Amino acid sequence: MTDEVQATAIAHVNVALVKYWGKRDAELVLPWTSSLSMTLDAFWTNTTVRFCAEAGEDEVMLDGVPITGVPRRRVTGFLDLVRSRAGRTGRAVVHSVNTVPTGAGLASSSSGFAALAMAASAACGLSLDATVLSRLARRGSGSASRSIFGGFALWHAGHDDESSYAEPVPSVGFDPVMVVALVDTAHKAVNSRDAMLRTVETSPLFRPWVDSAAADLKEMRDAVARADLDTVGEVAERNALGMHATMLAARPAVRYFAPATVAVLDAVLELRRAGVSAYATMDAGPNVKILCHRADAALVAEAVDAAAGCPTMVAGVGPAARLVVEL
Ligand code: PMV
Repeated sequence: MTDEVQATAIAHVNVALVKYWGKRDAELVLPWTSSLSMTLDAFWTNTTVRFCAEAGEDEVMLDGVPITGVPRRRVTGFLDLVRSRAGRTGRAVVHSVNTVPTGAGLASSSSGFAALAMAASAACGLSLDATVLSRLARRGSGSASRSIFGGFALWHAGHDDESSYAEPVPSVGFDPVMVVALVDTAHKAVNSRDAMLRTVETSPLFRPWVDSAAADLKEMRDAVARADLDTVGEVAERNALGMHATMLAARPAVRYFAPATVAVLDAVLELRRAGVSAYATMDAGPNVKILCHRADAALVAEAVDAAAGCPTMVAGVGPAARLVVEL
């Protein structure tokens, strides 16, 4: 075995249009429902993993700073999974750089664990196809299963490790953008893992949400395939607000809305009343992502600024995860 091996991968953030919220199996990260996402071009994670021959503690750096506590344990636990598959021992050194604020409901874990899965498995000499890689990334963070793919990806909930993976869905000619309203990029109060668990265990609205997911997914998939932005947007907005309703009904409530979040949601309604195709989605944080035609992005950004005074970034449809070839 070579003493030191390393690989670098880049994976892009994805934002779910039909959300994943709640695990049926926390160990294997099997979700209650299937989900469908859009990968974004503007936000990504670049991760280098080096495996060394000697034993010792793994070193995990994010944006040049060592990470500690639970986030570190998530990464080292994931590295253990890769090491055991590859029959490798020895410590790892991980350097990750995010172009997106971490832990702010901007889906940094989707790109983070997709890049880590790709870089760590390549460094170990495992040659995994996209489906197997998607299953591996899922173990780090559910949404990461979808960031292996560019464009639009469907994560099949499945019923065991093998059947729970993402794959690209047809989207010919569908090229919307997301205007990301950066309401607050501080680290969120409750991470998605804990918030999900509390929702599944205590929210009386969780079951109805699971029951409504299949219809949303079917409608979304068909709308993406025919590049129908208005239907995609309508389903995405109702699905996201429904997910937040399950959290608001949890005990105690999980509330990610900030005053500026509501102001942005109002601005989106106003835009629609004025005839602009603009639709909101939100993840585990106060930031709002607004789906619209590229030609309307500037108008949408102006409306967000006027309503909430917060900065925006525009993201288009992004590419699949890839290994960076070092010259
Ligand atoms: O992948 P996780 O465990 O960070 O969960 C992501 C959950 C949402 O972003 C809120 C929804 C989704 O499908 O990405």
